[in-house]
Amino acid sequence: MNKKGFIFDLDGVVVDTAKYHFLAWRQLANSLGIDFTEEENEQLKGVSRVRSLEKILEWGNKTLSQDEFTSLMATKNEEYLSHINKMDANEVLPDVLKVLNFLEERQQGISLGSASKNARPILERVELLNKFHAIVDGNDVSEAKPNPEVFLKGAELLDMEPHNCVVFEDSVAGVQAANRANMISIGIGEKHVLHEADYIFKDFTEMSTQFIDEIISGKISKVNQIIQ
Ligand code: BG6
Ligand code: MG
Repeated sequence: MNKKGFIFDLDGVVVDTAKYHFLAWRQLANSLGIDFTEEENEQLKGVSRVRSLEKILEWGNKTLSQDEFTSLMATKNEEYLSHINKMDANEVLPDVLKVLNFLEERQQGISLGSASKNARPILERVELLNKFHAIVDGNDVSEAKPNPEVFLKGAELLDMEPHNCVVFEDSVAGVQAANRANMISIGIGEKHVLHEADYIFKDFTEMSTQFIDEIISGKISKVNQIIQ
């Protein structure tokens, strides 16, 4: 069948929001007297909001009451949203729109598979909401990546079998989730970080339409089969 399901992670794949997560987490960490570096921010890629705060508290050796924890999560998100609300279509990463339009032309299934609870407002701001046939985000899943739930739900909404799906991911946990779902995993980013992916590209400008066509036709398939 010449139809596949293409599932895009959001943060770091479609838009570069890591810088806004960094600013918001740094402000919050510093307010608690905890240092927060860009290297630490790297480790929060693909990690849920709750788990991110837990990790920052672990790094700073701090414990909080449940109420304080909940309130800080809200504070972080308000600060994050203040940046998101200024985003526009110029912040879509290079050639993402080109790939989305190409897939649309080829009548492929297109879904979002993100850990973020802010996925819809972000897609709206960057004018991409109508490009996706299905959206699965942090509001729809109970298990975080590397659990494959987010991608399996995406496949289901697209009415595609997991082995006919392809995932674009910039995080290690996301690549592992795609592999566990038995989908073709395509890492977007650095080779040394995303080495578990079936294929790796620095960004979408490096991905040819021929490569995408070969995925669609089945000429290119999964390299690393899952070991259960
Ligand atoms: C992921 C990001 O996509 O979403 C993480 O890579 C982030 O950094 C997570 O923590 C949750 O996002 P949000 O918008 O729900 O806080
Ligand atoms: Mg990501």
